[in-house]
Amino acid sequence: MNDRISVPAGTPVVQSRLPTVGTTIFTVMSALATEHGAVNLGQGFPDFDCDPALVDAVAAAMRSGHNQYPPMAGIAPLRERIAEKIESLYGRRYDPVTEITVTAGATQAILNAVLAFVGPGDEAIVLEPSYDSYSPNIELAGGTVVRVPLTPGTFAPDFGRIGAAITSKTRLILINSPHNPSGSVWSAAELAQLQELLRDTSIVVVSDEVYEHMVYDGEHQGVARFPELAARSVIVSSFGKTYHVTGWKVGYAVAPAALMAEFRKVHQFNVFTVNTPMQHGLAAYMASGSHHLALPGFYRAKRDLFGAGLARTRLAPLPCRGTFFQCVDYSAVSQLSEADFCRWLTVEIGVAAIPLSAFYADGFDQHIARFCFAKKDTTLDTALERLARL
Ligand SMILES: Cc1ncc(COP(=O)(O)O)c(C=O)c1O
Repeated sequence: MNDRISVPAGTPVVQSRLPTVGTTIFTVMSALATEHGAVNLGQGFPDFDCDPALVDAVAAAMRSGHNQYPPMAGIAPLRERIAEKIESLYGRRYDPVTEITVTAGATQAILNAVLAFVGPGDEAIVLEPSYDSYSPNIELAGGTVVRVPLTPGTFAPDFGRIGAAITSKTRLILINSPHNPSGSVWSAAELAQLQELLRDTSIVVVSDEVYEHMVYDGEHQGVARFPELAARSVIVSSFGKTYHVTGWKVGYAVAPAALMAEFRKVHQFNVFTVNTPMQHGLAAYMASGSHHLALPGFYRAKRDLFGAGLARTRLAPLPCRGTFFQCVDYSAVSQLSEADFCRWLTVEIGVAAIPLSAFYADGFDQHIARFCFAKKDTTLDTALERLARL
């Protein structure tokens, strides 16, 4: 193909650092949804606004002059609020001075952690299906991605396979609970098993907990609750998910001081700092109440509304114990591949979804599509009316 593209003289011949990466399925499906007037339940973001009080808090911060560089690790009041929240929920105190860093979303926190702990020749374990940035991050660090499948059907961790994937070169494992895309969550017993499995290793855990406040049965089991696991973990979360402001791209990472010191070395030459007024706004908003405590009920109602509607279709919902994603098995409706089914659903039925195969490097196909229910009830009702035609 390349020999047909006319290249101006002097253009350097580049060796792509990410030769297999193309446009993500989320961009493709969103464009298709717009083109065909489909209800977009593909990409994972709310179609409703955040609490106006949060916008007011940011505006107030801007007006009162909080518009210059903040400290590298984030403003002190926000780091203090983060420490208080984690301690109140999970019983572990992270030191705001040495153990908490505000990041440009969870995405940057994950890249930061990978660059801090993985280098050429190292291996890093990714459990599939997985969020799309994990593997490219490891490749950018020069590491080798070691993919281990979650158990098909339940999407539970398979400790036999994880154990078998560990070698003397393994530096890091990325875990994610509640899990995008499956909606599964790790139990306390599973985290305890991971703690046991890693005991005699020096593997760092990056625990992606951006959906920590969207758990529908019982409490979120995060690594902060497990002392030995916490001692080797960088925990990542996202204000975007928690406060319905995905476009703000603000999140944070917490880790024991020795790990955080390495994390910050990368952070200071990556973004250096994250925007100041958003940090002040978030700190003031967090001080004004425990808004995150309302989130499970808010999203549980949407999950139940969407689930009740799906029960009237021929799509078979998989259990959704966390996140704002609902997966369905569409075998009773179609034998198309997941990618073709999602395209057909968008164009012919008018509802956009994401094929689960997009979350596997080898495109493993299970006839499962993922819907995002972080939408207004009216949006969900419109989508359900259309899906009922299947
Ligand atoms: C599992 C997971 N991790 C990380 C992120 C990124 O979070 P942020 O928008 O804060 O970068 C997402 C967003 O969809 C996600 O689903």
